[in-house]
Amino acid sequence: MRRKYIAFDAFGTLFKTADFMEDIREVVGPKAEHMVQLWRQKQLEYTWLLNQMQRFEPFDRVTARALNTAMHSYHISNPEVIEQLLSIFDNPELISGAEKCIKIMKAKGMHMAILSNGTRQMLRRGVDKTGVASFLDFLISVDEVQVFKPDPKVYALVPEKFGVRKEEVLFCSSNQWDVAGASSFGLRTIWLNQRSETREDLPFADVTEVLSLDELEALFS
Ligand code: LAC
Repeated sequence: MRRKYIAFDAFGTLFKTADFMEDIREVVGPKAEHMVQLWRQKQLEYTWLLNQMQRFEPFDRVTARALNTAMHSYHISNPEVIEQLLSIFDNPELISGAEKCIKIMKAKGMHMAILSNGTRQMLRRGVDKTGVASFLDFLISVDEVQVFKPDPKVYALVPEKFGVRKEEVLFCSSNQWDVAGASSFGLRTIWLNQRSETREDLPFADVTEVLSLDELEALFS
């Protein structure tokens, strides 16, 4: 790959999302996994709904609403569980291998950014915990445009920040709908298929698929 500018999605791509947590299962029981899946699904659904309604709320608010819905659906009410689950987004952590990948890509001369639905604070907290902050040129939050992905205004922030044409920018996400959004806007896309998902029949073209961060960094020389 000859392109030198890349933006990463955050949650589910570089940051952990609601990965199934053993301690939550102990409290919530066998419903935990489905509840957590419903939470993530509702979280995204609410961002799309807000976009349709031409309204905006910060992602932490949307995330808390979605969790309320998921917990009600499974008749769970436990303030400790709420706190623990919300901290996955409020105080995010990099997935294993992400720090190494970012450092290697920097050494290969890449200019990097994160582009996320997350609030500025969420993104800042996620990168400040590790040593990657100084390797990233920009942390771009949808807060800047007050609309969520996959609105084209969000993806437009990336070439704007780097000061280059959109054709020069790569966007990498593990979320297929996010890849579709970026591709529809006109960015070159990489689908980091870390969860070995089946490819969805979404309208996006020309996507490069890799299965791991190691495979991703190997694309660049
Ligand atoms: C994000 C969500 C979509 O970080 O994963 O933007």
